[in-house]
Amino acid sequence: MEQKLANSKAKLLILCNPHNPIGKVWDKETLEKIGELCLKHNVTILSDEIHCDITYKKNKYIPMASVSDKIANIIITCVSMSKAFNLTGLQSSAIIIKNEEIKKSRKSNKHRWSSRTKYFSYTSFWSCNKIKSVTR
Ligand SMILES: Cc1ncc(COP(=O)(O)O)c(C=O)c1O
Repeated sequence: MEQKLANSKAKLLILCNPHNPIGKVWDKETLEKIGELCLKHNVTILSDEIHCDITYKKNKYIPMASVSDKIANIIITCVSMSKAFNLTGLQSSAIIIKNEEIKKSRKSNKHRWSSRTKYFSYTSFWSCNKIKSVTR
């Protein structure tokens, strides 16, 4: 990965955390290594964490953006309640970005980043968090 990042013009790495289809729940050490390499080579990480609520108990899901403050600054996290709560029909998801520069680029590309279902997403995420807090 280090070689690939160093020798390419890549600006974005797409990470699937936990991974689908292999089912791998990445540990903190691995996420840290990936994050440090991307920081070093100025690569933003889009972390697809749609499967975060589906892990067996012995495997702990770690959000990529929680690994360190520095790494959080290069992360775009994508989540949705569609998989764990079987709500694909709602067509609702959320993108979480800490870095203001990345957020600004989102605003200048409005046609690509639809917020059509924003308020619906807030409500359904709030509901799913309530369900999780009761069932865990
Ligand atoms: C890792 C991952 N991200 C995103 C999606 C897309 O989800 P949706 O079908 O809710 O658009 C899938 C679908 O299987 C997936 O496996």
